[in-house]
Amino acid sequence: MSSGKISRRRFLQNSGTAAALWMPHRVNGYTQQELLSFFDEEGMRREISKWELDTPCLCLDLDALEANLVHMQETITRNGIASRPHAKTHKCPTLAKMQLQTGSIGICTAKVSEAEVMFQHGIKPIMMTTTNVTPTKIKRAMGLREANPEFIQATDSAQNARLLSEAASSLGITADVVIDIDPGGHRTGISPGKPALELAQLVDQLPALRLRGLLCYDGGSQHVKGFSTRRQQTLERMLAATETFDLFNKNGLTTEIFSGGGTGSYNIDHETRGLTDVQVGSYVFMDAQYMDIGGLNNDTQYTDFDPALTILTTVLNDQYPGRCTTDAGAKACTVNRPWARVKGETGLSYSSGSDEFGTLRYEDYPSRTYRVGEKIELIVSHCDPVVNLYDTLYAVRGERVEAIWPIAARGMSV
Ligand SMILES: Cc1ncc(COP(=O)(O)O)c(C=O)c1O
Repeated sequence: MSSGKISRRRFLQNSGTAAALWMPHRVNGYTQQELLSFFDEEGMRREISKWELDTPCLCLDLDALEANLVHMQETITRNGIASRPHAKTHKCPTLAKMQLQTGSIGICTAKVSEAEVMFQHGIKPIMMTTTNVTPTKIKRAMGLREANPEFIQATDSAQNARLLSEAASSLGITADVVIDIDPGGHRTGISPGKPALELAQLVDQLPALRLRGLLCYDGGSQHVKGFSTRRQQTLERMLAATETFDLFNKNGLTTEIFSGGGTGSYNIDHETRGLTDVQVGSYVFMDAQYMDIGGLNNDTQYTDFDPALTILTTVLNDQYPGRCTTDAGAKACTVNRPWARVKGETGLSYSSGSDEFGTLRYEDYPSRTYRVGEKIELIVSHCDPVVNLYDTLYAVRGERVEAIWPIAARGMSV
């Protein structure tokens, strides 16, 4: 990394051609290693601005994060349900702990490796929403259950339930299980109604399993635009899960857990009778995909949560009209759509189709232009896959870097 200091000789060379335009000024830039050395038990000892961070990097606005946590908790508490946030979004134990401290009853994970990392960091109430079907993963999941009595595993077939029971039995444990119900998208889960009931009855009878209830996550409804359309679709598609909930109850099976819902339906899900908790993920960060869906109080913009997660990128080239090139391409932003957005500016569009380079284009009335070396702050396109590209989150208050949080489950895709 460049020290940012400019030698006297270099200055004189430059000043020969552009002395009137070019003024040397002190520029600090810190590697992550250097930043870590500025921390002690008291926290960050130096005043370091996020604009001094090496790029591309991931920043988390603490004021926005805290507002998002509080708004979620206040809303669901008012509506009489709980939250079991999905750690697939942030993969960060520090954030999972903040969610639990704010009142969440547990967390969810999508991968067994993710669940292991969360447990290694002291988080116990974990529900794994994805089924584990291979012998290796079943062994890992049941091994985790042996170490962590608060681990709950989803299942969606009789064959899988039998394998889970065998693995649990060989470890001498009784594993907690929820039935994953398909909301209609046929991605995962068993069909609601009789098939789900029969699976629940089997789980209830298998020697080494304990039925805890059901889950039904309707991903297909989360990004439906317009609150009333989204509400109608969500409630319609969750109806079969509620009927299944009723069937479980009629047959004396536990429905202690009825989990579902996400960031797009968090203030709708309490209308699904029986639902106990929402598996919300993106609300902590927000992203461009969610910003356009519209909410209860704003038909076009989803303003319930503040965009807290941003990528900082540096301009590498400003030599061509109408555009500049940055250091944050697909490997820093993903190629998800809509593209990342420049925070706080208008008349600018960003794309990250090239591996290492991003393109910023000036539209008709750009609110500003950029020069080489200047930094740009981007609201992420889709938070989950972006987080998975970085090792650390820089937690920022205002412009000041307050903490560095490891994304400990980054890359845990197994
Ligand atoms: C099973 C499951 N639950 C919950 C979520 C969280 O959804 P959201 O980020 O929309 O809140 C996801 C996200 O994909 C998911 O796959």
